[in-house]
Amino acid sequence: MRTQVGIVGAGPAGLLLSHLLARQGIESVVLENRSQEYVEARVRAGVLEHDTVQLLTDVGLGDRLHREGLRHDGIHLQWPGTRAHIDFPGLTGGRSVWVYGQTEVVKDLIRARQAAGQQLFFDVSGTAVCDIDSAQPAIRFVDADGSEQVVACDVIAGCDGFHGVSRPRIPAAASRTWERQYPFAWLGVLAQVAPSTDELIYAWHPRGFAMHSMRSTRVSRLYLQVDPAEDIGAWPDERIWDELDTRLALDGWTLGRGPVLEKSITPMRSFVSAPMRFGNLFLAGDAAHIVPPTGAKGLNLAVADVRLLAEALTAKYRRGDTNGLDGYSDSALRRVWRKTHFSWWMTSMLHTTSGDEFEHQLQLSQLKYVTSSPAAATSLAENYVGLPLDATR
Ligand code: APR
Ligand code: PHB
Repeated sequence: MRTQVGIVGAGPAGLLLSHLLARQGIESVVLENRSQEYVEARVRAGVLEHDTVQLLTDVGLGDRLHREGLRHDGIHLQWPGTRAHIDFPGLTGGRSVWVYGQTEVVKDLIRARQAAGQQLFFDVSGTAVCDIDSAQPAIRFVDADGSEQVVACDVIAGCDGFHGVSRPRIPAAASRTWERQYPFAWLGVLAQVAPSTDELIYAWHPRGFAMHSMRSTRVSRLYLQVDPAEDIGAWPDERIWDELDTRLALDGWTLGRGPVLEKSITPMRSFVSAPMRFGNLFLAGDAAHIVPPTGAKGLNLAVADVRLLAEALTAKYRRGDTNGLDGYSDSALRRVWRKTHFSWWMTSMLHTTSGDEFEHQLQLSQLKYVTSSPAAATSLAENYVGLPLDATR
């Protein structure tokens, strides 16, 4: 097989890159080691930044998003006794976010790729990224029928997530990583119950952070800060609801309960690997960086990466201009570090360590400040709705 851009991974990064390239007449092949059913069922984050929604709409992926997604004009920040609203459009000149599950974005992307008859291989195995420092890199893999295949390409996009095979191909001597493991994890539940709130609630509590998010008008998504070593088996549904009741409590407000559809525990880490390019291998999305989920930046960051990469590849194929590709890593990393900081900051403000009373007072002071000072609230709001691409280029 021969293509222009070989893409490893059919998460949001790989699928959207393939879609953006196809719109510019650039061919790609996408390889995914999981099944289509698995990829479409994976429960992930659910908040799209203003510019993410704009991009998906501009490239023909906005129909279901606008029909089924929920526009949110702010968030609630809470601590015991107080629930305060941050008004995004008022603070950011009209920008807002949309609640629409990453799972739904992925389904829309897969439909679009398949409708266009694009090469999208699920259930592959043994993916190997080869000859990245040559002008003719290749990807070897075994297809779902067990046949060995080789995709010869001009460029490889490593969109294969944190545990993928692409990033390790960059020689250790040529790369650097930064990592922070947080002493917290999120226990997440998806529940068949109408949300009890109009907008997302991020709640500080001495027993640990809690959050009320949603997927639709009928499905709620809720999270509890737990210890990373916590066993999900120790959390029957009743215990989860009781703990959510305690941490999200506010006079005159009640949390609706419903059947739990899914529950799991996810550890939290920040991770950045640089550069995001080596030879003809370009990394995008979770393959190059991970942020903790507080602030919902992971998916949006992946979208920003592939938007830059698609622009750079378009300039190369249209005009032979490789400046964009040469500058890709530096440009992408500017935004990566901004969002890494924002996610770390939100995480630090909202997650509590039992017994650390000094830290609790600092966090409460910060929460009162961001909900009362227009300057502080604007800083949170502009990062949450997402800085325009040009602001971090
Ligand atoms: N060969 C082929 N595919 C692979 C391989 C491999 N060796 N290794 C991993 N993959 C696939 C995974 O199965 C997954 O479908 O690559 C895909 C990577 O997708 P994501 O992990 O969703 O990463 P990305 O597309 O960068 O999206 C970032 O996803 O994890 C969330 O929080 C993250 O929201 C952010 C978004
Ligand atoms: C989610 O709905 O899954 C979600 C929302 C906001 C976050 C993180 C996760 O900050």
